[in-house]
Amino acid sequence: MRICLLRAAPGQEDDPRYSDIELFTDRHTFEQRFISRDTIKQDLNFAAAESFDLYFNFLHWTWYGSDNKEVAILAAKYIEYLAIPVIGLPSRVLEKYGLDEDGRLVIGDLNTAQEEDVTAGDEYSCTIIELDNTPIPLCPVFAHTEIPLKSTSSPVFLNAIQKLTEDAFYANDLHGTFWCTFLVCLNKDSKPTLTGITPMPKTIFPFAGDGKNSAAEACAVRQSFPGSYRSLIHSLIASYFLKRNRNIEVSRQVGQEFDTVASKYDTVTAGIYHEGLKGIVQKYNFDGVVLDIACGTGLVARLHGDTHNRSRFIGMDISLQMKTECLRHGLYSNVLVGPMQRLLIVQRDTVHHVICIGAFLFLESNELSLVLSRIFQLATASVTFTIDEIPDSYNKAQTERGRGHMAGFNHLDEVERFGIPVGWKLADRWRFLGWTSPTTGSEIYSNVFRFEALQE
Ligand SMILES: C[S@@+](CC[C@H](N)C(=O)[O-])C[C@H]1O[C@@H](n2cnc3c(N)ncnc32)[C@H](O)[C@@H]1O
Repeated sequence: MRICLLRAAPGQEDDPRYSDIELFTDRHTFEQRFISRDTIKQDLNFAAAESFDLYFNFLHWTWYGSDNKEVAILAAKYIEYLAIPVIGLPSRVLEKYGLDEDGRLVIGDLNTAQEEDVTAGDEYSCTIIELDNTPIPLCPVFAHTEIPLKSTSSPVFLNAIQKLTEDAFYANDLHGTFWCTFLVCLNKDSKPTLTGITPMPKTIFPFAGDGKNSAAEACAVRQSFPGSYRSLIHSLIASYFLKRNRNIEVSRQVGQEFDTVASKYDTVTAGIYHEGLKGIVQKYNFDGVVLDIACGTGLVARLHGDTHNRSRFIGMDISLQMKTECLRHGLYSNVLVGPMQRLLIVQRDTVHHVICIGAFLFLESNELSLVLSRIFQLATASVTFTIDEIPDSYNKAQTERGRGHMAGFNHLDEVERFGIPVGWKLADRWRFLGWTSPTTGSEIYSNVFRFEALQE
């Protein structure tokens, strides 16, 4: 994608340091366009005419904090009028905020117990990442020392802070802020109390010449957004387009295709596919709750052959007919129907294991990042998936048959760049002949990735 970073023209800002968002991913090309305070509309018209795929509006980072709130609002409103695809604070939110005596942006009518006696010193920062319509709280961080709160040492307290911030996100109508930091103090009864909200703080990204930015937001991303900055940027992009249903039509067509194949899927895939799958599900431990993403007819549970009833399977698939087939065998307690890239965002409960076999090829690369980040947030014990090496000849043959929607992506490089999230290890990885396409005859090699959570 060609992405435009909208920035205040040099010489117009108090803080000349720019966030180096473009350093974190080479999957997209970034170009800066400088906007002058005196010619906002003309400059924005120019940037819009260049028809970038996406814009990041960072203007308020310069203008808002230097007594130029009206200018930042004017720019945000004009960008909304231009209707260009943009990641930036909506004018609605900018209008609602004021500066407190510390220069922190706060909501004017923040409905907290501000008069309450809060203990100075025990301040926590909790950053929320908004994916699709859902606020996802990251790990809270001690605001003064920038040390993340450990989920193992204080899970109840951590959950209380995250719940408070999530509720505040909804209560203050912060939708459209992409990311947002909440400051929380303890009141005299040691109960977490909200003291401030900063929408889209710039401290989330390291600045030029300061690669080790230790701001609380940056610590939270590194610690608890699996895939870190690279995946965060991709996930924000994926989320932006998901919200606008940009790629959903392709997923819908894929779902329809699997609807027609569902009743004969087990027969068509008998042979090397079943053998390969058996080799994966019988090799590893899946005791506990297993979320089987893109479960299809439920071969994972059937080939696992859990005779001791130690696993409980729940499924997710985009095809309703696949759900019917899957439930028919009685091994799954539930199957959610919808695109995984949406369902995984709203999924709240953690599970022990996440598995996804033969389906990541249907996601475009930003969506894959989002899905990977979410599954590592949701799983507590293991994550197992396959990545198919889809050759160009396969995609060409699908397109020539008028089935371009069934073309797949080879995400091997993307998964390698995603890396190993904090708190996890890559326990196993191997390659095998995965399947032969019934449509094109292509032989497709697959790669198994098995991650396991580190014991703290
Ligand atoms: C090749 S089948 C694999 C099914 C099963 N995992 C197995 O190994 O037998 C791919 C499955 O992915 C599902 N699928 C494709 N895209 C999806 C998406 N975006 N979200 C959820 N399911 C999806 C299809 O409906 C289909 O059931």
